[in-house]
Amino acid sequence: MKTFLKLTLFLFLAISFFSAKPKREYNNEILRPQFHFSPEKNWMNDPNGLVYFEGEYHLFYQHNPFDLGWGYMHWGHAISKDLVHWEYLPIALAPDNNSKEKEYATAWSGSGLIDHNNICGFQKDTVKTMLLFYTSYQCGQRLAYSTDKGRTWNKYEKNPVIPFDETDDARDPKIFRHQASGKYVMAIYRKPNGDDSQRGISFYTSSNLFDWELKSHIAGFYECPDLVELPVNRRQDEKKWVLFDGDGSYVVGSFDGEKFIPESPKQKSDFGKNYYATQTWNNIPEKDGRTIQIAWMKDGEFPGMPFNGQMGFPCELSLEKSKNGIFLVRNPVKEIENLHLKQESWIQKNIIPGLNKNLISKIKGDCLHIKGIFDVKTSDNFGFLLRNGKTNQGAEISFNTKNNILNCIGRQVVVEPIGGKLQLEILLDRSSVEVFANGGKVVLSSCFTPEQDAEDVTLFTSGGELFIENLDIFSLKSIWEAEEE
Ligand code: FRU
Repeated sequence: MKTFLKLTLFLFLAISFFSAKPKREYNNEILRPQFHFSPEKNWMNDPNGLVYFEGEYHLFYQHNPFDLGWGYMHWGHAISKDLVHWEYLPIALAPDNNSKEKEYATAWSGSGLIDHNNICGFQKDTVKTMLLFYTSYQCGQRLAYSTDKGRTWNKYEKNPVIPFDETDDARDPKIFRHQASGKYVMAIYRKPNGDDSQRGISFYTSSNLFDWELKSHIAGFYECPDLVELPVNRRQDEKKWVLFDGDGSYVVGSFDGEKFIPESPKQKSDFGKNYYATQTWNNIPEKDGRTIQIAWMKDGEFPGMPFNGQMGFPCELSLEKSKNGIFLVRNPVKEIENLHLKQESWIQKNIIPGLNKNLISKIKGDCLHIKGIFDVKTSDNFGFLLRNGKTNQGAEISFNTKNNILNCIGRQVVVEPIGGKLQLEILLDRSSVEVFANGGKVVLSSCFTPEQDAEDVTLFTSGGELFIENLDIFSLKSIWEAEEE
């Protein structure tokens, strides 16, 4: 009998061992984002050169290929067909002048553009040329081009296109074609005459992409500018320009191709801890029509990982008019749905105080997409604990109904419920969380340090009842999954 039991146990263990799915290795380290872009190895900061070309979204990024810290800037490169699955390509830009220095002549931030009309004359056959404009640190603004869809890159022989000026600290050129004037515009961070109080964005124009003329300057901005035109309330007959600062804050105004006239105060676009160096994609086809932005989740921490840095999730931008003015609205791109795995839903549920009454206790995971509408009823405070562990409560996202303060891992912002209801959309990806409230009117992007293996998710209310109008929670597939099989 004893032998029989032993044999059964042995068979059971053997079957479990051989039928268990092997744990995926590639890009699955404990703090590796599973649906946000991160470099395969080493340091990453700003997104650069964002451009769409023939079915591929190109994402370049500030990259130190040698170690986990900032410096020795190269442009890393990745492409995606759907803004969520990324394929790493070889480094696109290395430092100029064969520099081996940490800063001198390294490839700092900039932007990308498709030369549809072969203005530069680099085109060889029918494939349009891709252009990258970048700051070569202490060596001026420079141009590189690719005639093979971004697979290999050449530097323009007559670089720089704007010479180095040791007083103005110019950097981060964002180029785009201004439809109405037919000219190219460069928005670039500068401090004219070396005057710190004038730190801001200069606008240059060009007809041939080689010769640039300074047209105007606006003070009060720092690093990584971007300028986009967006419809107001989705109406194509009313458009406004939005000028972005490095920290994602923005001013709404008008732009005639040479000068930006502000029509709003500067406002924050993200209230979390980690949102920086925003940039929008150039050359998105008209039939798509979206303006898509991505940012670096600056200061995210990845101890023990082979990489250091992650991007925020790509978002669609729009403008909405309210009685207080025109505001930016930001929402995750719809392609997030390509990653939906399993859906759990709740409709019209009342919940009462007490952690042990967790309605969504069956939800476990470290990569989730949560969408819900909450009637605040008599609750004083309600919200989610994500990756709630034994020693670390994880990321807390909560709403204080007395003062309408939305809190995400210690960062706070006032959000007015609409008709007593708060709408929340949340992206959780291992150690980052992005919260979009009331249809993207308010956004918080933050990183946190989770407890290893913590996968519990709690929905709580304190002080009174909360009514869930609807709640959908999707588990998400890893974008790196295909690499394994
Ligand atoms: C912003 C920034 C840019 C610069 C780059 C260097 O994070 O400081 O102004 O071009 O990073 O890596």
